[in-house]
Amino acid sequence: MSSILTGKILDSAIVNGVSVVTSLFGDKKGGCAASWFAQVSFAPVLIMVSLTEQRYTYSLIKKSSLFNINILADNQLDLGQHFGLKSGHSLDKFKDITHSPGKNTAPIIPHCKAYAECRLIDTFKAGDHNLLIGEITHFSEDTTKTALLFKGVDYW
Ligand SMILES: Cc1cc2nc3c(=O)[nH]c(=O)nc-3n(C[C@H](O)[C@H](O)[C@H](O)COP(=O)(O)O)c2cc1C
Repeated sequence: MSSILTGKILDSAIVNGVSVVTSLFGDKKGGCAASWFAQVSFAPVLIMVSLTEQRYTYSLIKKSSLFNINILADNQLDLGQHFGLKSGHSLDKFKDITHSPGKNTAPIIPHCKAYAECRLIDTFKAGDHNLLIGEITHFSEDTTKTALLFKGVDYW
């Protein structure tokens, strides 16, 4: 057993799903893969996603105070790769991806396991990431689907 905590060790020891976190500011849409997300409160229902400031999606969330967490189903690995391996700083990732506006206007990706529409209520610095806390304003789940689990080998 190793006592050295590295990203790689934690990735294999902690079970996470994969989401595409989306946001919108003006006519700019952003979306990035995020495996560091979790429900963190019952009342109110709060959800957390951990993003670095370098993410294009992060910049849109900070400007608009809204985001959606699209929780991928186990047949949507291609979407995790699409939104996780290139940045909206240099291209429009939504150009060839089917999506629709949520009630909060930020993009919803169809056929996911679930999605949560959120209003940003707080941000905390956590090392080289920032914890974005969202109050869920709308939630939808397809109970027939199974969530995609994060495995580093699928991406790198
Ligand atoms: C499966 C997967 C999970 C990821 N999880 C996170 C995460 O939790 N937080 C984060 O800041 N970046 C995460 N990333 C990296 C971003 O998705 C990636 O840097 C993306 O290109 C950022 O896009 P953007 O600049 O358009 O927002 C993940 C990448 C992959 C492939």
